[in-house]
Amino acid sequence: MIIPVEWTDEGVRMLDQRLLPNEETWLMLKTYNDVADGIRDMVIRGAPAIGVSCAYGIALGLKNFVGTNVDDLEEELDYVCEVLSKTRPTAINLFWAIDRMKRKFAELKDAGTSVTDIKAAMIDESKAIHEEDIESQRLIAQFGGELLEDGASVLTHCNAGALATGGVWGTALGVIRGAKDQGKKVSVIADETRPYLQGARLTAWELLKDDIPVTLITDNQSGHVMKKGRVNAVVVGSDRIAANGDVANKIGTYMVAVLAKQHGIPFYVAAPLSTVDMNCPTGDDIPIEERDIREVTHIMDIQLAPEGISVGNYAFDVTPNELVDAIITEKGVARKPYTESLRKMFEE
Ligand code: MRU
Repeated sequence: MIIPVEWTDEGVRMLDQRLLPNEETWLMLKTYNDVADGIRDMVIRGAPAIGVSCAYGIALGLKNFVGTNVDDLEEELDYVCEVLSKTRPTAINLFWAIDRMKRKFAELKDAGTSVTDIKAAMIDESKAIHEEDIESQRLIAQFGGELLEDGASVLTHCNAGALATGGVWGTALGVIRGAKDQGKKVSVIADETRPYLQGARLTAWELLKDDIPVTLITDNQSGHVMKKGRVNAVVVGSDRIAANGDVANKIGTYMVAVLAKQHGIPFYVAAPLSTVDMNCPTGDDIPIEERDIREVTHIMDIQLAPEGISVGNYAFDVTPNELVDAIITEKGVARKPYTESLRKMFEE
């Protein structure tokens, strides 16, 4: 069972995903700045995992605050949240966790809670966010598993597994684990996911650990395997879903969705409601992270492209809602039109 981040009395413990699959190294992060660096530098990645880590970072920042005045603690909270909010722009779970932690703080302050008790309650809130995230993935696994046929071969892109969430299930890989728990035989085709290779390094590692049959392919093989009839469904995660059902996910997801449409293969997105941004009307409003060009010009430390070449490195793309056959959440399966089906899920 993989749980990539956890709260301990010493600090926040994180599995260093930059080193997988070759090394399983755990880091102990003792300050909120360490957690912010961990998110920025990809020690932890994946939208729900970023949200959980951000909540722990806030709790850690408050725990380390020296002082007895609640207003000063609130100033510190604002500062810590500001630092964490600058780490990665696309995954809404980061901002969702900040809002939730700030709301909890306001509630505690209004109730006249002491600094010591606020610190303890904020740690509890961050742990609750983590537990709820795991429970959401469990439900996503159950609902999503029902969509897969026995014997299905599922193509996935990037890593939307336990590593990318609070742990245990994952979103897209949760659906596969859910189907397996329902007694179905399922296998996975994992895109390697250039340039950061989350598929080759992380999805392959996770599935092998769980004994789920997986075949790794380069990203440019996906059209070919679909045409050959080797893919029965595509399941991916998401970093942010707009209110109209447009889906931001790892760069290359849009290409896979277009190919799935061309070949009549269902394209499913699995994500908790903490990934749905009802304040974002369409995918055009989702900020897309651009990362260091070295990720494209180099693999590890080996330079592949000539010095001085102009390079693009968008980390995410947006798949338009018309290409998405279903969005699997902890509240059930949303179908088109998403503007209505997603809104209903928040009202339940
Ligand atoms: O850049 P990353 O590795 O943080 O990107 C992760 C993804 O795009 C995942 O597919 C997404 O966050 C869903 S994770 C359950």
